[in-house]
This record gives sequence, structure tokens and C-alpha cells, in this order.
Amino acid sequence: MLSSKRILLIIGGGIAAYKSLDLIRRLRERGAAVTPVLTRAAEEFVTPLSVSALAGEKAYRDLFDLTDEAEMGHIQLSRSADLLVVAPATADLMGKMAGGLANDLASTLLMATDTPVLCAPAMNVRMWEHPANRRNHAQLKADGVRFVGPNEGDMACGEYGPGRMSEPLEIVAAIEAQLGTGPLSGKRILVTSGPTHEPIDPVRYIANRSSGAQGTAVARALAALGAEVVFVTGPAQVPPPDGVTVVQVETAQQMSDAVDAALPVDAGVFAAAVADWRMATASDRKLKKSRDGLPALDFAENPDILKRVAHLETNRPALVVGFAAETDNVIEHATAKRARKGCDWIVANDVSPATGIMGGSENAVVLIAEDGAEEWPRMGKDDVAKRLAARIADALGQ
Ligand code: CTP
Repeated sequence: MLSSKRILLIIGGGIAAYKSLDLIRRLRERGAAVTPVLTRAAEEFVTPLSVSALAGEKAYRDLFDLTDEAEMGHIQLSRSADLLVVAPATADLMGKMAGGLANDLASTLLMATDTPVLCAPAMNVRMWEHPANRRNHAQLKADGVRFVGPNEGDMACGEYGPGRMSEPLEIVAAIEAQLGTGPLSGKRILVTSGPTHEPIDPVRYIANRSSGAQGTAVARALAALGAEVVFVTGPAQVPPPDGVTVVQVETAQQMSDAVDAALPVDAGVFAAAVADWRMATASDRKLKKSRDGLPALDFAENPDILKRVAHLETNRPALVVGFAAETDNVIEHATAKRARKGCDWIVANDVSPATGIMGGSENAVVLIAEDGAEEWPRMGKDDVAKRLAARIADALGQ
């Protein structure tokens, strides 16, 4: 809930401005007060009248409106809010913010405040990926501005890619997380992700093909609901999400140690593809070709992190969630794995080649819990993560 919170909502001039009308409704449903500010360009997409009618407050528009200045100066306007939200954050607005420009009401408010700022970018995919915008985005993140989205998908301009503004409820979740009012606020959650690398010698290692995409999406979704996330990741292909504590490891043993160091937590989600074996003794010198034939590699078993944490006598998280990759008899195998590991839930992926899930952007998941198996429809990995995060919030809230 957002009762007694005041959001200053800056609406930029982009087609996604229509979603800001719904965002205002959703915020007010949750008890927030919304002070809307429109840029000149925003007025081409939504009218001040509809914005102020939904917000139940005056829509501010012009820096040099003297009546407004007398009623409430722009400095006062931005400082009376708990959070400034820029939605849609256009390329132009992000550029102004990154460069420190203040030539209209919206940019002046953003310069004149020390209140936290959350941006929901929306722009054409080429603009999002343009080096200038990438620089601005990185600069704003370094300045402490938080971001929600953009999402990937079909765009109003007919192109496809990242640049769509997040949906109103996603922005609400990010606002709640930022204000510490999300359903997972106050909860500390551990997520393991990515592959592990097990050294053979200083230059060679054993690895697997995990990209870390699903674990990263889960960590992002949990943080979006307000959780304090400790993200223990092996060498993944995708970058870690913003707003989480990242602990980078290489081997299964290092991951196991990092997990121990992160305890106690309210929940642990074990999405990493941990190597089952390592070299019994990794050579500290590079193995050379020898006339005596092939080198013999002696394997030792790695610690099963999930199983160990699920069986802890003290500090066992209230909810322990494992992942399983299965190719056949998914429910049967994953149910047996849940019992073997001693975890509360298993998220089983059907990775048989026919599904095209391995390496793809979608996932077909069965959630196995004590009371049985629940098959989820096939959906994007981000959506799987959001749904799982919502279930975790329900479970920890009980
Ligand atoms: N896991 C772990 N530590 C290990 C191995 C696995 O924490 N050393 C966790 C993974 O993060 C995942 C689950 O255990 O949550 C996967 O279990 P695993 O036994 O590796 O199953 P699969 O990878 O599905 O392989 P298999 O079916 O061969 O058992």
C-alpha cells in the first residue's frame, strides 16, 4: 500500500504517455497522492484535463506560471514528494537529466530535488540503443537514479526490441520497492545463478552452458517487490540486475561459501547450474602435452548447495526453492528431486529439445510443492520470474 505517500509524476512526451493515465489510477487505488507534471510534448499525447481529473490534483505545466510559483514554488513542489517518477522517461528527458539541463518545469524539478528519482524509459529501440542514450543511462544510474524497464516487445512505431515502457503495475511495484512498501519489503532473499567454472589448471576449466538468464530474472523480480536480494552468481553471460547485492564467484565451493556468508535469509532460490564435479586436485601449473599419453583427470564431487541448505538445523531459510532441468517424465522426476534435496519447492523446466526452451527466451515450468504439481503455461523467462516472485511473496507473507 502507498497510503500517505506522495508521488510527483513527470509525464514526458511519448506515445507511452497514455499508460501514465492508468498509472495514476493504480497509484491512487493504493492510497498514494499524485502530483502530475506534464512536459510541453506530453500535452501532445495526453491532456492536462484528463491527467488532473484522474490525479484529483492540478496538473503542473509551466515553469513561468507566476500563480503556480506563488502557490508552490518548483523547489517546494519537488521536495514535498516521497518519490519523483518520470514516466515515460523519453530520450530527451533522460538527456536533460544526465546533462543537468533545467529549461522547463520538468527538468528544473529534477535538478532542484534531492528526493529519489525513478525513471520508466520509453523510446524507439534505435534511440534506446544509441550510444548517446546508453551514456545518459549509465550516467543517471551512477548518479543514483533508479530504473524500471524498458521492456522488450512490439513498439508503436512498428519495430521490435527494448524500448517499451513498463506496464503500470510493474511501475507501481518498482515504486513500492523504492519506498519500502512492496510485498517483500524487509525480506532478505538469496538467489544463486549462472554456471560454475571448475579449474583443471590455471588456463583450463570445466563449465556448462547456463547463461544465468533465469536466475537473473528471478533476482530482478524479487527486488522489484522490495526484497533485499543477495545474488550469488557464477560467470554468467547476462549482466546482474540493478538494485541487488552481487557476489561473484567462480567455483561451486566458492558459491557454497558465499551462500553460507549470506545466511540467514528468509528464502533461498537456487537457480545456479552448479557443476557436479571438480578436479580432485587442480594443477597449479599448465598441463603440458606429454609423450606418456593423455593426462588423467581425477574428479571429486562438489558440495550440493541446495541439499545442504535445505537440511540446515539452524539458519534454514523459511522457504527453499530449487530448480530442475528435466527432459522426460518432468513431474515424476522433479517430485523425486524435491524429496531428495529436501527443498520446499522445485521449479522444473522441460528442456527436451522439442520444446526449444534450452537457450531460448521462453520457459515451460512446473512448480512442485508439497501439495502437488502445478503446470504453468509457456511464457517468457521474465514472466516466469515475476510469477515465481509473487508466489514467494505470498508464501512469506503468510
Ligand atoms: N544444485 C546445487 N548444488 C549442486 C548441484 C545442484 O545447489 N552441487 C542445485 C541447483 O542450483 C538446482 C538443483 O540443485 O536448484 C538442481 O539439482 P541437480 O541435482 O543438479 O539436478 P539437475 O541439474 O536437474 O540434474 P540431474 O537431473 O542430473 O540430477
